[in-house]
Formats: sequence, structure tokens, C-alpha cells
Amino acid sequence: MKKTEETNHWNPENYNKHTSFVSALAMPVVDLLDPKEGECILDVGCGDGTLAVEMECSGAKVVGVDMSAEMIDWAKAKGIEAYVGSVTDLDYEDEFDAVFSNAMLHWVKDANGAVQNIAKSLKIGGRFICEFGGKGNAYYLVSAMQEVFTNHPEFGDFDNPWYFPSVEEYTKVLESEGFSVEYIEIIPRPTPMDDISNWLDIFANGVTSHLSTEQYEVFKKEVIKILKTTIYSEKEGWMLDYKRLRVKAIKS
Ligand code: BEZ
Repeated sequence: MKKTEETNHWNPENYNKHTSFVSALAMPVVDLLDPKEGECILDVGCGDGTLAVEMECSGAKVVGVDMSAEMIDWAKAKGIEAYVGSVTDLDYEDEFDAVFSNAMLHWVKDANGAVQNIAKSLKIGGRFICEFGGKGNAYYLVSAMQEVFTNHPEFGDFDNPWYFPSVEEYTKVLESEGFSVEYIEIIPRPTPMDDISNWLDIFANGVTSHLSTEQYEVFKKEVIKILKTTIYSEKEGWMLDYKRLRVKAIKS
């Protein structure tokens, strides 16, 4: 890995307490990866290493990379070889049988740069398995944040940090970087969430970090008020409107 100055500060304890669903719901993606004994797999955005541990159960060797130094410490504590770094900084060449990524690539606006580095890391014939937010993902969540920013010009511009591509758009990115796409689908996955306030603290952090404490409280209160009319029901509670883009592509 190239050394990177940029790190993300996720608190693993807070993250794990409120978002263990992120790994728990990713088991079908690990099944699609189908890791095999003796394989070498790169897990980009490995988080605390929960899924890397699952993959290693097959006898594969996993190397994890994540922007968060705290997450990397947790992954290492689980016995995973792991490094702080970004998908945009990868400098592996023809090293891995597979590259895996769950719930991370929607944070990377430079999709071509990310896919190019992933392709470079793979051996010829190697597979790229990923899942992240696809077109329409978190529509109500993002619209509510956008609306509150529009209603409060003093908050500044809403700088949307997420990339949620369509099947067609991401197929083009993959093919332009030398992949042949074996499977690609958008899967609606409404996801129950116990506490929307915690979800905002964790996932909206990047778009609100410049707000004062008072402004952030106003932001949260108003976003939650809007969301109560869209993704909340008495019967089911909070239901995140997630749509996952799931991919299997082969480096040709
Ligand atoms: C997601 O994991 O789908 C997501 C993350 C941050 C904001 C919106 C959606």
C-alpha cells in the first residue's frame, strides 16, 4: 500500500453497536465470492474484519484495507492482515485471486479510479465481487437531508458524498477498466434500523461536520421529522430504503 494521509475516523464501538447489520446482511455477498482454500483475497473497506474472518473460514488468506485506523486495529485484533488505506491508493499488481468489497464503494466518487486499481490488483481471470448502494439507494434519507439544507441556507451547500450508480452506468465503468460482467443486479433491501438518530450520527457525519452543535441538533430534528412521514411506520418502526448493487465481474 502507498502511504496515505487520509484516514476516516469511525468509532468501531459505536459503529458495531448500531450497524452490525452491515456485515450481517452481507453474507449473500460472501456466498457469491465463494472463497476457496489457498486463494488470496483483498477485502477493500474491510471495516472491523468481520467478513474477512468469515472468508478465512474457507482456508483463503485475506488482506484487508480500510481508511479507518481504528477499524484496522479491530481487524488486526481478529487476526486479519490489514492496512490503513483507500481504494484510490491501492498499488498491488496481479496479486489477488479475488477482490471483495461490501458497503464501501458508494463513498468513492472516482468510480473509474477505484475500479482501475481493483483491476490492477487482480490476477488475469480474477474476480471482483462487490455490493454497495445502487441507483435510488437511500432516496428518502438523502432527500430529507437535502431538504433541510435547502431550508437552512446558513448550513451552506449540501455536498452529497455518495455515488449510487445504475446497472448500466456501473457496467460501463467495469467494462472500460477491462472487466467482463458476469452478474449485476440492483436488489431492493429495506433494512430495519432501531435508532435513526444513531444512523444519522454515523452516516451523515461527513455532510454535517462543519455545522455547530446547535445547527446539528436542528438538522437532526428536522430530518427525523421528514423521515417520520416516509420511512417510519408504527408497525415496522424505521426502515432504511436501501437498494444494493451486487456485482460479479472477471478481469479479462
Ligand atoms: C448505505 O450504506 O447505503 C448508505 C450509507 C450512507 C448514506 C446513505 C446510504
